[in-house]
Amino acid sequence: MRFEYILLLSAFTGVSLGYSDAETATIVNPEIQLPQKTIEQPQAAPSAAPEPAQAEDASEPALPEDLYQPAALAEAPKFITQHRRDIVTNLDYRCGEKYGRCPSGTCCSSAGFCGTTKAHCRSPDCRIDYGNCDAHKSPKGPPTKDIERSHLGSVPYGPQQIRSCAVPGTVALTFDDGPTRYTGDLLDLLDKYEAPATFFITGINNGKGAIDDPDLPWTPLIERMLLSGHQVASHTWSHEDLSKVTPEQRIDQMLKNEAALRNIMGSIPTYMRPPYSSCVQGSGCREDLGRMGYHIVLYDVDTDDYKNDHPTLIQRSKDIFDQALASTSPTSHSWLIIAHDAHEQTVHNLTEHMLQTMARLGYRPVTVGECLRDPRELWYRKDNRWPGHRKKGPKKPFPQQVSIDGTCGKNFTCFGSSFGLCCGNWNICGNSSTHCGPGCQKDAGYCTVEAPPNGDAWDSSFPSKSGRSEAGSGFNTVGTAAITSLLLALIVAILM
Ligand SMILES: *[C@@H]1O[C@H](CO)[C@@H](O)[C@H](O)[C@H]1NC(C)=O
Ligand SMILES: *[C@@H]1O[C@H](CO)[C@@H](O)[C@H](O)[C@H]1NC(C)=O
Ligand SMILES: *[C@@H]1O[C@H](CO)[C@@H](O)[C@H](O)[C@H]1NC(C)=O
Ligand SMILES: [Zn+2]
Repeated sequence: MRFEYILLLSAFTGVSLGYSDAETATIVNPEIQLPQKTIEQPQAAPSAAPEPAQAEDASEPALPEDLYQPAALAEAPKFITQHRRDIVTNLDYRCGEKYGRCPSGTCCSSAGFCGTTKAHCRSPDCRIDYGNCDAHKSPKGPPTKDIERSHLGSVPYGPQQIRSCAVPGTVALTFDDGPTRYTGDLLDLLDKYEAPATFFITGINNGKGAIDDPDLPWTPLIERMLLSGHQVASHTWSHEDLSKVTPEQRIDQMLKNEAALRNIMGSIPTYMRPPYSSCVQGSGCREDLGRMGYHIVLYDVDTDDYKNDHPTLIQRSKDIFDQALASTSPTSHSWLIIAHDAHEQTVHNLTEHMLQTMARLGYRPVTVGECLRDPRELWYRKDNRWPGHRKKGPKKPFPQQVSIDGTCGKNFTCFGSSFGLCCGNWNICGNSSTHCGPGCQKDAGYCTVEAPPNGDAWDSSFPSKSGRSEAGSGFNTVGTAAITSLLLALIVAILM
């Protein structure tokens, strides 16, 4: 609420605050220096001098442990100097509607505690209005907002939503929330079946770090998607509910993911799926996405894979899929399927089953763009200001000869060969993780970077909002948000 208030204020005063909201300055102690590595400080915040505490919370009953009370403020400096290392994980700092924001640079967890651990800062659980979050990080490079966004082709753009495919006999498998540590295996499988699919990419969810971070394995995975003929689409920067955030936050969610994807592929997608499939009428979401030149893609079969991520449960998802396909004929029907490459059973069990069912019943796997008869060049918009160079990825041209017999090494590269892109430990070309993973020879082909061993991409033991269905969005909360915004606007108008 307070964040919205500031945004509204900024709208009234013409002051642009963006994400580096100066509001934290009221409780900031300048001594708090957080590790820059984990938290990207908003530009203005670190040097901002603390302002005297405002009586903003006057309407709320003050609680004893409330950091925002003058008494608590007075105590804070001593504590901070003595236990500077501890303060960032101190669970006594509360945040949320009742308590307000966390100290500058610290994150507000879904349970309402301030801290800087991954559990506090991981989006989308981290509460963007009450502290820092992974969501507040920004990709490098020029912003993408000036890219031309005309509505080309015959596939409808927002505010219209797309729920089904148009080419009979096709099935568009779509995978949301990745890339994750399972995505490499999924790409192996799709290669094996020569099955194109569509990836709705989230830029920085579940503590995985940013997709364009050169030290993380995500960029090579996205490059590999393109090389394999898959479609890359947007699933926002940090998986916030686009119906519940402010219009500014909504646009920011799209622009940041665009910049990160541009840093990887030189272009931005024209297809997106709203997290939780939530882009409700009246929130302005569908219109915003239309103005930004996006096709809003939903689905007509929900595999429910996120609910069934266990060997004893995944059969339910298989049944949902099989029943849908068996209920129609490939001569007249097509399907648009939603699944998530964030789940182990989806990648290691469900997907191969889906591919086999499709083959058995005579359906052809395609990308979303293909199933809508949209030519490939309309799936992306080029960032013409971007030089197009890549920091990583295969160096081309390779000095060596292309492998002629599937072997590789000093003199022969797998890149460009028909045996697979990666040169494995045993000097054999291939696409599987045994070739592209550990032992892969960077000088003789393509290599993926291994996912961090601690499974940063997805920790299923940690309850996460992303576990929520892309279906079932909170239709009723939007009205409330709209009314609250209106009330706040009124209050601001009166105050001024
Ligand atoms: C290996 O992957 C590339 C791109 O991902 C694909 O074009 C090629 O057909 C694959 N080759 C094999 C042998 O699987
Ligand atoms: C795959 O799913 C089936 C149920 O459909 C289950 O019996 C089997 O154990 C699963 N396999 C793996 C490797 O998890
Ligand atoms: C690579 O080629 C060079 C000559 O171009 C040759 O001397 C060398 O033995 C070759 N290495 C291998 C491993 O085949
Ligand atoms: Zn999602």
